[in-house]
Amino acid sequence: MDAASHVPVVTIDGPSGSGKGTISREVARLLGWHLLDSGALYRLVALSGRGSGLAPDDVAGHAALARAMSVEFSGDEEGRERIRLDRVDVTREVRSEEAGQGASRVAAWPEVREALLARQRAFRVSPGLVADGRDMGTVIFPAADLKIYLTASAAERALRRHKQLKEKGSDANLAALSREIAERDQRDSTREVAPLKPAPDARIIDSTGMSIAQVVESVLSAGRARGLWS
Ligand code: C5P
Repeated sequence: MDAASHVPVVTIDGPSGSGKGTISREVARLLGWHLLDSGALYRLVALSGRGSGLAPDDVAGHAALARAMSVEFSGDEEGRERIRLDRVDVTREVRSEEAGQGASRVAAWPEVREALLARQRAFRVSPGLVADGRDMGTVIFPAADLKIYLTASAAERALRRHKQLKEKGSDANLAALSREIAERDQRDSTREVAPLKPAPDARIIDSTGMSIAQVVESVLSAGRARGLWS
C-alpha cells in the first residue's frame, strides 16, 4: 500500500451545471484539503489540441498532449482561480462553452482518459483531496472514503450556467445553453468508457431548489456521519 492510499478522498461527481465546481471548492476550502478539478484537465487537453493545430479527430495527438502539457492551478491575490497551460494564463478560455464542448469530445477517447489517469491520482496529497468530475468515484478513486453524486434538474442547471457565464462577462444565450447541456449530458452518459453515472455506493444529492450552503452542509454532515471529520 503506498502513502497516497492513506490520504482521505471525497469524490463529487455529476452532470454539467449541477454545482459540483462550487460545492467541491467550498468543501475543500472549509476542510483545508486539496482540490482536483478534473473537468479542467479535459478542457485543457481540448485547448492544447486547438493551440497546437491538431486535427479535431487526432486521438493519439491529444493523448500525447494530455501526458505532456504543463498545467498549473493557483489562486490570485483575491483568491480567484488562475489556470496556466504551458505557462500561458488560460483561465478565461478554460471556462468557455467551446472548451466545455471540446472537453466532452476528447473525454470520450479511452487513450485520453488513460493519459490523464496518473496525473489525476497525483492530486491525492495529505491532508486530503476533494475530487470533482464525472468518474471520480467510479474509476479514478473507486475506494474513496465518501462519494457524492450531485445533480439538479436540467432547467436549473442551464440557468445556473447562464448566470455563471454572465458573471464572467461572456455572452450567453439560455436556449442555446439548454441545448448544449442536453447534448453534453447525452454524450457523457452514453459513451463507452467511464460514462457519467453514480457509483453504486454514492450518496445522491439533488440540489434543485437548495442553496449552496445547504448542499455544502449535506456533504459535510455525510462526512461527519462517517467519522471523516468532526
Ligand atoms: O465539469 P466540466 O464541465 O469542466 O467538464 C467538461 C467535460 O469534461 C465534461 O462534459 C465531460 O465530458 C468531461 N469530463 C469527464 N470526466 C471527468 C471530468 C470531465 O469526462 N472526470
